[in-house]
Amino acid sequence: MSVAPQILKAMENSSAIRKAFEAGIKLKKEFGNDNVYDFSLGNPDLEPPIEVKNVIKKIAASDEIGTHGYMPNAGYNFARAAMSKKVSEEQGVFVEEKNIIMSCGAAGGLNAVFKAILSQGDEIIVPSPFFAEYIHYCTNHGGKLIPAATNEDFSLNIDTIKNALSSKTAAVLINSPNNPTGKIYSKEDIQLLANTLEEHTKKTGRKPYIIADEPYRAIVYENKTVAPLFPVYDASIVVSSFAKNLSLPGERIGYIAVNPVFKEIDELCAAIIFANRILGYVNAPAFFQRVIAETWNAPVDFSSYLLRRNALTKVLDKANIHYAEPEGAFYLFCKVPKGKNGSTDENDFCNQLEKYRILAVPGTGFGKKGWFRLAYCVSEKTITNSTDAFIAAVKAW
Ligand SMILES: Cc1ncc(COP(=O)(O)O)c(C=O)c1O
Repeated sequence: MSVAPQILKAMENSSAIRKAFEAGIKLKKEFGNDNVYDFSLGNPDLEPPIEVKNVIKKIAASDEIGTHGYMPNAGYNFARAAMSKKVSEEQGVFVEEKNIIMSCGAAGGLNAVFKAILSQGDEIIVPSPFFAEYIHYCTNHGGKLIPAATNEDFSLNIDTIKNALSSKTAAVLINSPNNPTGKIYSKEDIQLLANTLEEHTKKTGRKPYIIADEPYRAIVYENKTVAPLFPVYDASIVVSSFAKNLSLPGERIGYIAVNPVFKEIDELCAAIIFANRILGYVNAPAFFQRVIAETWNAPVDFSSYLLRRNALTKVLDKANIHYAEPEGAFYLFCKVPKGKNGSTDENDFCNQLEKYRILAVPGTGFGKKGWFRLAYCVSEKTITNSTDAFIAAVKAW
């Protein structure tokens, strides 16, 4: 056998987004781009801000010796200093640059953190639904992802998290604004989660981390904000990137920040830096560390995502599809309507949508049967033009 069986199995189980992506290519070839309603991918369609493009040109034109060389595995000090400013502002506590590690996107950051903290058989609890890749990021490092159902409105359910806790729990992983629901977890719920983990620590002697995966932190609607984690729980880590807010997903630039009051912070940071190295990332891309060090706070107008959220909810209302209204990010999580034969199967319904040239991702991959995800980082025209297709698909379902 030339490929490891567990990889074959993992590939088979995580093919939903790839399947939608491939179906999209085929349909677009046949019917033209404008006649396919592709809501499958979370690829931001805003261009990076002009400030980012200008700095890219400036750095590309630089003749400074060593610009493209290796650097310490944690990243350039000036990039870490810029992130220290960003994270300190967001968290409301001062986070020194030595507690920041530059990473290859949030995905690379999560893998480095998991590598650093997981022992074989350890568990990471995640409120469900969740970003499907988390399963693989955990198993990559000998861990297991344990989903804990959220409430009906997708807010944190502290009881399900409590029930999932055990002596194997290495961390609780939260993602807010959430992919796929767009939910922002409230300040009160984050505090409750912290209290619950403190109680668990007293009982078991093992303190789980809280890891906040925050690539969508800046994309929020109607003055909503994302509550800081560092002031409420010491064993906490923030992982983030510039993939979504600065529309740079292909450039693989992100960072990890560790709570300055965590007692074993130096050991943890050293382990994450080492993991970043031995996973083969070595260091985050040099060029884009330079870029974001200068542009991390470039102004971005996210109002077009709000317009598109509102356009898509209008379409779904017309088609009688129930959804959770997102408070941030750019995903709509929708309930599969009951079909004529009583079915609410998400795979069958996504196949039904595909017949009407609508591409969506079944909720199974996010740990939620009976639901599907639409990514609305597509043009408003695509959204409004999809109205009749949604109505017809539901009518014939
Ligand atoms: C919740 C979540 N976390 C992490 C990532 C990975 O982000 P990055 O491209 O910065 O690695 C994504 C990408 O879609 C995501 O949705």
